[in-house]
Order: sequence, then C-alpha cells, then structure tokens
Amino acid sequence: MVEPLISARNIKKYFNVGKGKLKAVDGISFDIYPGETFGLVGESGCGKSTVGRTIIRLYEPTDGELIFDGKNIYELSHSEMREKRRDFQMIFQDPYASLNPRMTVEEIVGEPLEIHHIYKSYKERSNRVIQLLKLVGLNEEHALRFPHEFSGGQRQRIGIARALALNPKFIVCDEPISALDVSIQAQVVNLLKELQKKFGLTYLFIAHDLSMVRYISDRVGVMYLGQMMELAKSEELYINPIHPYTMALLSAIPIPDPDIQRGRKRIVLEGDVPSPINPKEGCRFVDRCSHAIPKCNEITPTFEEIKKDHFIACHRGKEFVK
Ligand SMILES: Nc1ncnc2c1ncn2[C@@H]1O[C@H](COP(=O)(O)OP(=O)(O)OP(=O)(O)O)[C@@H](O)[C@H]1O
Ligand SMILES: [Mg+2]
Repeated sequence: MVEPLISARNIKKYFNVGKGKLKAVDGISFDIYPGETFGLVGESGCGKSTVGRTIIRLYEPTDGELIFDGKNIYELSHSEMREKRRDFQMIFQDPYASLNPRMTVEEIVGEPLEIHHIYKSYKERSNRVIQLLKLVGLNEEHALRFPHEFSGGQRQRIGIARALALNPKFIVCDEPISALDVSIQAQVVNLLKELQKKFGLTYLFIAHDLSMVRYISDRVGVMYLGQMMELAKSEELYINPIHPYTMALLSAIPIPDPDIQRGRKRIVLEGDVPSPINPKEGCRFVDRCSHAIPKCNEITPTFEEIKKDHFIACHRGKEFVK
C-alpha cells in the first residue's frame, strides 16, 4: 500500500471577526498520495484557499494535524519549518496581482533561491533561472523584463517557474487558470501535467467548478461552508455523486449529449450560502437541501466512507448510494 504524502486530520482555521468566530475551515480530513492531483471544489467563500494555505502553514492552524512525509508539520519550530517550506509551494489565481511589478522576471524566479542561499554565485543562480524559464516554455530573453510586459498565460508561467525553483514535492494550485482566457487554460493545465510527470509532483488543485477539475484530478473533494461534503475518485464522483450538494453542483454543468441532458433534472440551489460566522450545529447544507430531515438540523453528520474510497457527510447518504 502506498503511504499518503499528506494526511490532513481535522484541520480547523478560524478567524476572529467582530461578531465572533469565522469558521473558514472547520474540521477537514483528507489524504493526498504521492504524484496525484487532488481537486478541491466548492462555491466562492467555502474555504478552499484557506485549506490550501493552512495545509502548507502559510496560515497557522486553529487545530488539527498535518502529516507530511511522516511528520506533523504543525509541530515544527520556525527554523525546522523554514527548511520544510522548500517542499511546498503555491501557485496563485491572479497572475496579475501575484507578481511584484517592480521586479524583473529573473528577480522574481530567483528570489526563492536567494532566500534559501542555494547558489554561491550570481552566475550559477542566473543559469538556474534560465533553466526554469525554459522548463515553463519561456526563454532567456524574458529574464530581464517586467511582469507587465507579459500576457496572463505567460505571467502564470512565471509564477510556475518561481514555484519550481526549490524543487518542491507538493504544490497548491489555487485556481491557477480561472483568470485566464479559455484558449490559454488548456495550455497551462498541460504544462502543469507535464511538469508533474517530469518531477513527480503532487498537486492540490483548487477550482470553482467540477467540470474543470474532472480531467485534471485523480480524486476530488467537494467543500461547503468550511466542511468536506464528499470525496471520491474523479470519475466516480462524476458518475455516482451521492451528496445532495454534489448532485446540485453537477446538475448545473451542461452535458454535451442532448439525450442525457434532456433526461437530467436540473437542481436549483435555493437560498444563499449561509454565513460562516458562528455557524449553528447540524449539517451546514441543511437550509438549501431538498432532502433534509429534522436530524440534519440538530446533528452535524460525520464524514465517513460510505463505499470503497467514497466518503460523504450526510445523514441520508446510505439511501442515495446507487
Ligand atoms: N484572512 C482572513 N481573515 C478573515 N476572514 C477570512 C480571511 N481569509 C478568508 N476569510 C474568510 O474565510 C472564508 C473562506 O474564504 P476562502 O478565501 O478560503 O474561500 P474560497 O473557497 O477560496 O473562495 P473563492 O472561491 O472566492 O476563492 C470566507 O468567508 C472569507 O471571507
Ligand atoms: Mg479562493
């Protein structure tokens, strides 16, 4: 059996806000295996980015354990964490906002190398930067230019080159293609796939919608208001969704086959996403769920394996298994 590269156990991240505790992530557990792409989806504000940042300890967790390569990284001291940090990187959603406009590409991509004192001479570092630029489909001439001289897709390539600089094992890709033109999205996804193969990288791939992560991810987790609602292999989640929330998300995606599309029921999600500030007991999805029973208002369903490799948090889950 393969050991997970990452085991997140009961991760919580609360923010103190004026009116109380904003429970952005409230007890999430999942594993990510070496070399896999784990997709994380859910509506805006459900906590996807917070999960990504908390598992690489860019945010200090409120609670939980994050086992990486057999060690709980939440217990590491600052200096141990500094060393470990090289193994994790992040690629951001907005390639316009995430690159410092006053730095050249060479400085942006070379900065992590400088911080970690990887190379003795400027020449050595500069060579490594050029090598990284080539890896992502850019070249030497780009090194002395500034971010505003590049297109969105090229900027995202610069962000990827920077993320690769320290030979990480794990990369959080936080909606890396959402801000790009549709025609460019596939190129960036293909690049990420290629790099994954070449370097044996493991990804957490965050996206809004399920159709996007389906092809990229080996397994997918569906989040709602700080909690994981369902987790399964990509195809399984697509073909046999169990949780009413996943069903609703999927029903919003048009299927190219008109026969299937005609036979499918479109589930409209009623009501707004409730506030994550001081959430009440019970299932987070209850107010928008057409299958809710009284128990759903009182007891928070546990997240459990309902069939092999398929996890859900729903009191009525067993009835919905096909
Ligand atoms: N630094 C912070 N301080 C206070 N609240 C925060 C902070 N970061 C995130 N939040 C809140 O936590 C919740 C989850 O935010 P998060 O950015 O993780 O959602 P998301 O799923 O990534 O959304 P999107 O799809 O829009 O990127 C939101 O209610 C957000 O307002
Ligand atoms: Mg986000």
